[in-house]
Amino acid sequence: MSRSILIKDGRIIDPRNGMDAVSDLLILEGKVAEVGKALAAPEGTLVLNARGLVVSPGFVDLHCHLREPGFEEKETIATGTLAAARGGFTTVCCMPNTQPAIDTRATVDFILAKARSEGAVRVLPVAAVTKGRTGGQLVEMGELAEAGAVGFSDDGDPVADPRLMRSALTYTRPLGLPVMDHCEDPSLSGGVMHEGKVSTRLGLRGIPAAAEESMVARDILLAELTGGSVHIAHISAAGSVELVRRAKAKGLPVTAEVTPHHLTLTHEWITGDGTTEAQQPAANTGYPYDTNTKVNPPLRESADVDVMVEALREGIIDAIATDHAPHTIVEKLCPYDEAAFGISVLETGLGSVLSLFHQGRIDLPTLVARLTVGPAGIIDHGGLGLGTLSVGAPGDVTVFDPDIEWVVDVERFSSKGRNSPLHGRRLKGGVVATVFNGSVVFEGSREAVTDGR
Ligand code: DOR
Repeated sequence: MSRSILIKDGRIIDPRNGMDAVSDLLILEGKVAEVGKALAAPEGTLVLNARGLVVSPGFVDLHCHLREPGFEEKETIATGTLAAARGGFTTVCCMPNTQPAIDTRATVDFILAKARSEGAVRVLPVAAVTKGRTGGQLVEMGELAEAGAVGFSDDGDPVADPRLMRSALTYTRPLGLPVMDHCEDPSLSGGVMHEGKVSTRLGLRGIPAAAEESMVARDILLAELTGGSVHIAHISAAGSVELVRRAKAKGLPVTAEVTPHHLTLTHEWITGDGTTEAQQPAANTGYPYDTNTKVNPPLRESADVDVMVEALREGIIDAIATDHAPHTIVEKLCPYDEAAFGISVLETGLGSVLSLFHQGRIDLPTLVARLTVGPAGIIDHGGLGLGTLSVGAPGDVTVFDPDIEWVVDVERFSSKGRNSPLHGRRLKGGVVATVFNGSVVFEGSREAVTDGR
């Protein structure tokens, strides 16, 4: 049950409304009721003192893997949404590489019902582009949109056939929903890490940046041809960013997201070389290469990271999305070649991206915008009012301390996925409270801690 909540004296950053000021925020009956100085609250109101803290609209994650139905050993809607709440996310879009895939109304209904009964935060399903994600036949897009899908993706796999991608964009255009493509040309791919000097040194098969860039280029051409909206999932290469920049300059319906790991880590992390004190190579696994760095698209070069940080700042990249991809220990406790792709991100994402703020590379309002109004603008066409603290919007709020220091301990994750290359690393910045629909769904420590949060 939601009750009234007054969040007092916080630095309210609401980029949608151009607000950055110390103020109070009142939530009544699950919705934002008032923003202003020295607000009075009805009796029985829960008062949160946010002095010295940032008060943001609840974060919106366009891309996470909740694994349910079918892979409950990796994650469930219950554990994944709890992890989201701990990470400050009040809305998560879940990807359809489940078993069965999210390709029927029944599966969308199942996820929405499960999220309502067991979820800590809002779950918006992304439906598959093709039945069973096999790349063959398009799903019933209209029906899935009506059921509540907010986009379409065969994530984990690209929509490899250009003709099929053209059809998908033609069908999604009138629905006003994006095709969120995992851009990776399979004929150029097949490796386990970024193709470059590190893969050569280690003797591991590489995935060249061109595998991504060529499909980003194709998708942009098809967006132009059809007028359908293309959203580039987990962009990772400088060349892809340049293509998106040009597409936006032409006014094409193209958007992009980037993950916290692609903004902060490089391919050197695979052996631990890119890290400082706390990180030991393969600390979690005992194998010479840290399989927790194995992710698709792969961690690339510092030049790619620099281009993506700048593009995020400029708004060429619209959103930070976690690509939270939990796996079991068995799928990571193995040689690099054999390990599953994916990183558990929901609980570390904010701390990771705040490092960009602490390095002076991006300011806080911009960072907050890319976690709130940026992603909301891509999927919230139905007037849910996500990503803002406008009066009447859902009472979704993230209160965070940009300066709190803590050490990542995967054993303390709410997520079942313990697969983080950040285990043992010190992060600066963390969530103090998460409010969803007017209820406090997570309350963290305000004290600096050294052993997790
Ligand atoms: O690293 C990844 N893991 N990339 C993907 O595209 C899929 C994801 C997963 O589902 O594990």
